[in-house]
Amino acid sequence: MHSLSISSRLGTSLSVFAKGQGQKIILLHGFPLDHRMWLPAAEILSINFHVIIPELRGFGQSTLPESQYSIADLADDVEQVRHHLASNEQVIVCGLSMGGYVALEYQARHGQHLQHLVLSNTKPNLDTLQARQGRLKMAQCATEQGSWAAASGMLENLVCATVQDNQPETVDLVKRMIREADGHSVAMAQRAMADRRDFEPLLSAIHIPTLVLAGDEDTICPCMATETWTQKLPNARFSCLAGVGHLAPLEAPIDFCSALSAALAS
Ligand code: MLT
Repeated sequence: MHSLSISSRLGTSLSVFAKGQGQKIILLHGFPLDHRMWLPAAEILSINFHVIIPELRGFGQSTLPESQYSIADLADDVEQVRHHLASNEQVIVCGLSMGGYVALEYQARHGQHLQHLVLSNTKPNLDTLQARQGRLKMAQCATEQGSWAAASGMLENLVCATVQDNQPETVDLVKRMIREADGHSVAMAQRAMADRRDFEPLLSAIHIPTLVLAGDEDTICPCMATETWTQKLPNARFSCLAGVGHLAPLEAPIDFCSALSAALAS
């Protein structure tokens, strides 16, 4: 895996990890995580793909701009990365959860560069009022007390019970990513997610081939709800992975990559 840094229009820098050769696939991480959540899947995918993992603003080594950004800004960052590394090639964009919100914006803003969309453990619809208020509360807590105080409570919803019992190293890595996330970056990401666009009414207009992946132990984006909205996509496949929670590619990288490779090959 090699790393590079791409300067953005705002004078900030985007950190990017890359490995492998072949068709380019851009992997977008969830909240409040960084490129490390993709490493096990990237090892497998890089056998056949050129894997590109940007870190979203303020996470990992990517720097945070001073003013509030939107999910659309993050999609434009992804396009900057694609342009830098893929010139005029079309790419596959695969986003998990918050990364899925960015991937949906990417197809809306830069769909001409997209060969295939992969939406993992995510949703197109807006938050309930209560969930939105929870985000703003977490943003305030993260600013005042840091990422661990704000977001450690997410842990049991990110990693499923099966993995919590059997894969302590996975749980440790997720804890480390939450602890090492910058409080201001956590706050800005929560505010950006609170104001994201509602893609549910727009799903029927997405004709790009799309794979939707869920985990049967994911309590944040449950399988049944995910399958229901997938049916509104005109050109989509759905797969629900067994024994997997919200972080499918980290919890079960082999199953995740098999489902992804099968869908992309068909
Ligand atoms: C994530 O995993 O990225 C978060 O669950 C996204 C969210 O808070 O909606």
